[in-house]
Amino acid sequence: MPEYVKLIYGEKTYELPIVVGSEGEKAIDISTLRQTTGLITLDPGFGNTGSCVSSITFMNGEKGILRYRGIPVEQLAEHSIFTETTYLLINGVLPTRKQLNAFSILLNDNSLIHEDMQSFFQSFPRASHPMGILSSMVTALRSFYPEIKIFEEEINLTVTRLLSKIRTLAAMSYKISRGHKVVYPRPDLSYGANFLNMMFDNPVKPYQIDEDLVKALNVFWILHADHEQNCSTSTVRMVGSGRVNLYAAISAGVAALWGPLHGGANQAVIEMLTKIREEDGGNVNRAVERAKDKNDPFRLMGFGHRVYKTYDPRARIMKRTCDLVLEKLNITDPLLDIAKNLEAVVLKDSYFIEHNLYPNVDFYSGIVLRALGIPTNMFTVMFAIGRLPGWIAQWKESVDDPDWRLSRPRQIYAGPPSLNYVPVDERQ
Ligand code: ACO
Repeated sequence: MPEYVKLIYGEKTYELPIVVGSEGEKAIDISTLRQTTGLITLDPGFGNTGSCVSSITFMNGEKGILRYRGIPVEQLAEHSIFTETTYLLINGVLPTRKQLNAFSILLNDNSLIHEDMQSFFQSFPRASHPMGILSSMVTALRSFYPEIKIFEEEINLTVTRLLSKIRTLAAMSYKISRGHKVVYPRPDLSYGANFLNMMFDNPVKPYQIDEDLVKALNVFWILHADHEQNCSTSTVRMVGSGRVNLYAAISAGVAALWGPLHGGANQAVIEMLTKIREEDGGNVNRAVERAKDKNDPFRLMGFGHRVYKTYDPRARIMKRTCDLVLEKLNITDPLLDIAKNLEAVVLKDSYFIEHNLYPNVDFYSGIVLRALGIPTNMFTVMFAIGRLPGWIAQWKESVDDPDWRLSRPRQIYAGPPSLNYVPVDERQ
């Protein structure tokens, strides 16, 4: 039996249908609201607004659940590899062995980038942030790999190119920023091993691939692979709704991810922990007090989430991965001790309990990346590589949606009423 909500406005009562998702989530369908009532809804930050119906990722922020295409992220992190999870997100089902092998070959075949693109890297100022470079380079790919006219072929090839070339671009930007010779991708290496090799191999000290570290990188990427309608994914969908090419939509997603309240938080966490170490000798109390002070804009980076009101399930896995990596490498990271201490203090503090603020995925991920040798300013690039399959899957779903419309939110205007233009010499 279809459900409705009743809206009483003026003399009239309107019935608005309820849409029910496959996990029982309910939404009021307001698609006819303005047409029938003249009203719009107002929801800054979209905390109460569903922008689409999607079959890709399910998350429940109250219970701390995250599933890709129905499969819990915990199972994927334990048993899957990033390329397989990528296939799952984009195609909707896990690949057979044959499909997975074919996909890996396709990724290898498309891993090189046009040699001329190397000259672009040289033109960026040395201090450029890698996210700015990545966003520009992804857009530039469009010029080097122009459109193929057959739509399906174009999409499949563009998707493969992006997935494969993004890690080549990332590693290349790192090498060039250090003045080192770039390392080319190798067909005999897996996606993750290839990336680490391109980052760290050099003629003097060949990189030794360690499968445990490759596994940790895979876990990091799998945990970041999709997160339904977050800021950068919504950006990809919104930019894509203007029927822009996929490269441009992904480039916009990279730019959106850059912000410290979103993907940039992993870098911000390490900077915060370093500051606590350097300025407060590792004592977390001042940072905690500042975060609670209404008159201080400081926030604890790596805590809180728009949707999770309990422990982020990804943070739990990331914390475990962090311990495993440091143990494997036999290193101690003083920032990990500070992080664990900060978490322990926060979880007992009434302010954070009342505000439902728990560690999010970014809290421990920076320590894992540091241990792998990734420089801090590359952390958000690592997140972008991980999030790419999600962006692509969401973009593809929106392209295939028969109800797809140009995204165009409305507003309530609060500026001055109609005024007449005053010529410049008559202005007071
Ligand atoms: N430290 C201290 N207080 C916080 C924090 C924090 N990290 N996060 C939220 N709060 C407080 C706010 O001050 C506010 O308090 P008030 O209601 O007393 O005024 C309340 O919690 C709600 O905050 P909002 O900003 O409205 O919550 P929102 O859902 O918009 O924010 C966000 C989510 C942006 C992630 C926020 O928690 C934050 O800034 N966290 C730090 C940055 C971070 O870790 N970002 C990564 C998120 S995960 C990701 O994008 C991959």
